[in-house]
Amino acid sequence: MSIRSVGVLGCGLMGSGIAQVSAHAGFPTVVREVAQAPLDKGLAAIRKFLQGGVDKGKLAAADMDRTLANLRGTTELSELAGCDLVIEAVSENLTLKRELIGAIDDVCGPATIVASNTSSLSITELSTFTRRPERFIGLHFFNPVPLMKLVEVVKTLRTAPGVAEDAADWCRAVGKIVVIVGDSTGFVVNRLLVPYMLDAIRVYEQGLASRDDIDNAMKLGCGYPMGPLLLGDYVGLDTTYSIAQIMFDEFREPRFAPPPLLKRLVLAGHHGRKTGRGFYDWSTTPPS
Ligand code: CAA
Repeated sequence: MSIRSVGVLGCGLMGSGIAQVSAHAGFPTVVREVAQAPLDKGLAAIRKFLQGGVDKGKLAAADMDRTLANLRGTTELSELAGCDLVIEAVSENLTLKRELIGAIDDVCGPATIVASNTSSLSITELSTFTRRPERFIGLHFFNPVPLMKLVEVVKTLRTAPGVAEDAADWCRAVGKIVVIVGDSTGFVVNRLLVPYMLDAIRVYEQGLASRDDIDNAMKLGCGYPMGPLLLGDYVGLDTTYSIAQIMFDEFREPRFAPPPLLKRLVLAGHHGRKTGRGFYDWSTTPPS
């Protein structure tokens, strides 16, 4: 495997998790945010997760120190120079991604693999923003990144032989299990998961069952780790809404259309765990 050092763009929910698992696996990792405040917030979340692991006896204190020593936060894009792999994990905004993916071309050498963690945008479209489309792929991680085992590795028609394989080797080196998928909006997981979550909101909206009964039905009836409404809060209702819109635009199938209730919650600022309020009240633990 040719990947020795890693850069991550964005230190939010996903970027901080990706940077954490990379540093924990021993890769020198630099994570870049647009300003100091979100960077500090993301780095604090990493420290909190690692400390939680130490407190639970899941992680040695020395491991935590080693992980933090491998990790560097910055607000400068130029600090990503020299990275063998750069993973873009900023919000699902095409204009922002276009800017950053283009800017990486001027910072990193031609051998650098550039990946996007997008959950719904087209990897092929994103690859048109770089002068190295043959070294551009999707690496789709799942939330919470340190605990979820899967990464969808996404190739496009232009990805050069060996690039996805090198990236997949790196994913395995950070402890993940890889599936290789083609470039289609939502890949495999969200293609199946998003309509399920939207249907759960419709069931709730139509008054078929209470919030808790819907979540318990799927948790206890299907053995899922959490119910779909709690999962929506966990992923972020704003994120779920934006993925649904992108998938609906692509496929024009009603099952991908965001339900009106989801739109209202998002407009009201009820984005789930991240804002303290969604289907659940996250200011209490566990949410109720
Ligand atoms: N450090 C080390 N290990 C830790 C840890 C820490 N800080 N915190 C927890 N763990 C360990 C726990 O000790 C536990 O290990 P064991 O199984 O060996 O006991 C394990 O991680 C699970 O932790 P918890 O017991 O605290 O948590 P849980 O069992 O309640 O599970 C969960 C939490 C993993 C989030 C689970 O509820 C779950 O899998 N939920 C579904 C999440 C999901 O579906 N995510 C995908 C969302 S979709 C997405 O991300 C894609 C997209 O594009 C939108």
